[in-house]
Amino acid sequence: MRAMNDVPPLPTQSFSITPMSAADIGDVVALADRVVGPGYWDVATVTETLARSTDGARVCSHVARDDADGTLLGFRFALPPGRWSEGRGSGLRPDRWPFAQEQAAYFQSAWVAPAARGRGVGPAMAARALADLRALGAAGVVTHSWKESPNDSSRRYLQRLGFSAVAEHVDYWAEVDYVCSRDGNPCRCTAIEMVLAFDGAAGRPGGRAGVTR
Ligand SMILES: CC(C)(COP(=O)(O)OP(=O)(O)OC[C@H]1O[C@@H](n2cnc3c(N)ncnc32)[C@H](O)[C@@H]1OP(=O)(O)O)[C@@H](O)C(=O)NCCC(=O)NCCS
Repeated sequence: MRAMNDVPPLPTQSFSITPMSAADIGDVVALADRVVGPGYWDVATVTETLARSTDGARVCSHVARDDADGTLLGFRFALPPGRWSEGRGSGLRPDRWPFAQEQAAYFQSAWVAPAARGRGVGPAMAARALADLRALGAAGVVTHSWKESPNDSSRRYLQRLGFSAVAEHVDYWAEVDYVCSRDGNPCRCTAIEMVLAFDGAAGRPGGRAGVTR
C-alpha cells in the first residue's frame, strides 16, 4: 500500500499576477524576444513603457508568474489616460471612439508563453489592468489587435473582454524595427483597432462603431 506522502505532486496550474516592476524587465524582454519577435520589446522600451504605465503609486502593467517556480508566464502593458498618444504603429481613429481621447486608456501589448495559454493567464492580467484603469478614472480603453494572430486568438480574447472593432490598419507595425514572429522584417500584419467603454463612465455622444480600413 502506498503511503500518502509517496504520492507524486501534481503539476501546478496556479499562477500569480503582480504589478510589473524593474525586477521583471529582463524576463519580459526574454519572453518577448521569443514570442513576439526579437527587438520588439528591448530593455529601454520596456523601462519607458513601464514608467508611462505608472500613475502615482498605481502600476497598470502586470506580469504573471508560475507559483511553483516563478517562471514568467506572460505580461500585459496598460497605459492610463494622458500617458500615451499612439500605439507602436501608425493608425488611430479617435473620431470612432465612444469616449474622448483624454479619457482613453491604452492596452499596449499582452503575450502569454505558448505553454501557458488556455489557462486564463491573459484574461487574469487584463482584469487587473482594467480595474486599475477604471480606478484612475478612464472612460474606456483602446487597443490594436493583431489580425494574423494564430486561430484569431487576439481578437477573440479582446472580444471576450468586451472590446469591439472600430477600424483596421494594414501594415500597422511596418515601421517598428523588429523581426515579426509571423511575417519577418518589416512586419506586414494588420491591426484591428478596438475599443472598450467602461459602464457608467461619461461617454461621448455620437460615437459609432464599424470596421473600415
Ligand atoms: C491572446 C492571449 C493573450 C490569450 O491568453 P490566454 O491566457 O491563452 O487566454 P485564455 O486562457 O482565455 O485562452 C484563450 C483561448 O485559447 C485556447 N487555448 C487552449 N489551449 C491553448 C493553447 N495551448 N494554445 C493556444 N490557445 C489555447 C483556450 O481554450 C481559449 O479559447 P476559448 O475561449 O475559445 O476556449 C494568448 O493567446 C497570446 O499570448 N496570444 C498571442 C499574442 C496575442 O495575440 N496577444 C493579444 C494582444 S496583441
